Amino acid sequence: MTKQDSRPIGVFDSGIGGLTVLKELALQFPKESFLYLGDTARLPYGSKSAHTIRKYSEQNIHFLKRLNVKAIVIACNTASTQVPEADFEGLPLYNVISPGSERALSVSSGKRIGVLGTRATINSKAYTNKLLELDKDAQVFDQACPLFVPLAEEGWDSDPVTNIIVFRYLSQLLQHSIDTLILGCTHYPILKNSIARVTGSTIELVDSGEAIAHWLERDFIQGRLGRSDSKEHRHVQIMTTDSSAHFTEMALRILKPLKADEFKVVDL
Ligand code: DGL
Repeated sequence: MTKQDSRPIGVFDSGIGGLTVLKELALQFPKESFLYLGDTARLPYGSKSAHTIRKYSEQNIHFLKRLNVKAIVIACNTASTQVPEADFEGLPLYNVISPGSERALSVSSGKRIGVLGTRATINSKAYTNKLLELDKDAQVFDQACPLFVPLAEEGWDSDPVTNIIVFRYLSQLLQHSIDTLILGCTHYPILKNSIARVTGSTIELVDSGEAIAHWLERDFIQGRLGRSDSKEHRHVQIMTTDSSAHFTEMALRILKPLKADEFKVVDL
């Protein structure tokens, strides 16, 4: 018999970017409820030390656990590099490094994989290590893109300024003839049009949302996670650690056609 569990799934990110992951999950699992936490008061994580990123991530995990979630998805790639995949006090805890790496290898034709991320993500070598662990023949080329996060937060997709910056970051990576590119930061799918314009149609783009949705589906099928059996309308609640009208405006744009039931500011 299928396991049932109507508690929400917790998702956290440093800010707005994780909404790209939430959207993917909420559209793919229309009966599941979600509690999203964007740590906007402490964004960006990508320029902080491993110690600080771990401390913030652990606080976010404890906060969501207190809200009685059935699983936690660390949508933030930067946070994912600092938190092991193991369950947390019996609670399934997912990060996006293994799902993204697995998906990149499955769509890659020649195992030449590029990775984009924040400075902290690229310095951690989490993707490179995971890709090589999964396939020792993979060739990995990475690039930190610190200017992408503010461009995404500003909503400047397809802006001429963004196109130039994307070109500047990617031109060296493209010389390695990569066939697949991991968008190793939740903010980067917001800039997907600009990125795709530079990479062209022959390079597969892999983002965290699609990759983790695939993993959750697998765990629902295998019974590690119970599916919601609620007959009532599911709830999607967005919490942030700072208030910002700009965040709400951007969130509504990113989430479309998905609608959130509630936005609120919380204290961790
Ligand atoms: N959301 C973060 C990630 O996926 C990046 C944003 C930040 O630097 O806080 O890596």
